[in-house]
Amino acid sequence: MSLLKAATAVRENAYAPYSRFKVGAALRSTAGNIYVGANVENVAYPEGTCAEAGAIAAMCAGGEYQIAELLVISDSPMPVTPCGGCRQKIAEFAGPDVVVTMVNLEGKTSVVTVADLLPGSFSAAHMANVNDA
Ligand code: THU
Repeated sequence: MSLLKAATAVRENAYAPYSRFKVGAALRSTAGNIYVGANVENVAYPEGTCAEAGAIAAMCAGGEYQIAELLVISDSPMPVTPCGGCRQKIAEFAGPDVVVTMVNLEGKTSVVTVADLLPGSFSAAHMANVNDA
């Protein structure tokens, strides 16, 4: 199954009664498996989670920790872009050259890399002075 098909399908399962903005995400792990996520909102608004976070959690639950490719889809005028927090979450599991595809329901598409999304990202390398390794 393609990432577009998988993300489009899981988007229907989003729980978004407050924003009514349904988002679907699908990622392919470096092992070749597809993991999906949709946004899950909460009446305590900050407790909601994004589609990308759901897909990443599913990947980790599956015992995998490396993203090869990721796609996100929503019903927006222009391709939806991951929020700041999700950019950091994606960067935790994807190298700078990993491709992130953003799509809207009309098929308008934007393709960027993780480095494009989060330039100068904070990483484990910044903590080298306090780590033994
Ligand atoms: N949302 C995502 O799930 N992913 C994005 O890339 C952008 C925003 C969700 C969070 C919230 O449930 C709704 O969209 C409106 O912000």
